[in-house]
Amino acid sequence: MRIFPFHSTRGCLSYLVTDAEGRAAALVDPSVELPLETYLTEVEKHASMLAYLIETHTHADHVSSAPELAARTGAKIVRHALAPATHKDIAVVGGETLLLGAETLRILSASGHTDESIALLADGAVFTGDALLIGGTGRTDFQRGNSGALYHTLHETLGELADETIVYPAHDYRGRVASTIEAERRTNPRFALDRDAFIATMDAHHPPEPELFEKSIAANSK
Ligand SMILES: [Fe+2]
Repeated sequence: MRIFPFHSTRGCLSYLVTDAEGRAAALVDPSVELPLETYLTEVEKHASMLAYLIETHTHADHVSSAPELAARTGAKIVRHALAPATHKDIAVVGGETLLLGAETLRILSASGHTDESIALLADGAVFTGDALLIGGTGRTDFQRGNSGALYHTLHETLGELADETIVYPAHDYRGRVASTIEAERRTNPRFALDRDAFIATMDAHHPPEPELFEKSIAANSK
């Protein structure tokens, strides 16, 4: 598996993932804030075809370019079955798999930040969306978020992965790209909270609405 990150504005991260031979690629969380050509050039460099456009959840802070990329390339848009968007070429739930060339992407249910969040497990790497960020987690106070569900995702799903699993989040506001499950379990302050404290902390956490909130939700729910 090969992984190439893209940084866009306001700390949003997207990723190109290909199998080792470059037979097929997936783009995870592509954003309109990067030109389509930026993604397409990297795909062309590293893989024979773009198979999937995968949304880890319905983003509230940027507009997805998955529909435009699908129209250009014929790649299939993959979203959780509960995602509000009607454009789902492949609707998935936790436990399912996608074949990427000779390799497999496993879908993990990662609800909590939203009720339709997924993570993707691929050959020692996990794309965590906004469920697990480096040193933090996504908020749970809109988009049918649920603090108890996020606790379960952190401890029963992501926290159970092998220590050395590399974590690729959907955001980082300090220019970082990757961490590991072991480092997050050890240093992420939200991991250190017990269930009751985690729920109380998250339920009381109401950061300002993201820039582009309404525009993003409207566009990404089509
Ligand atoms: Fe999010």
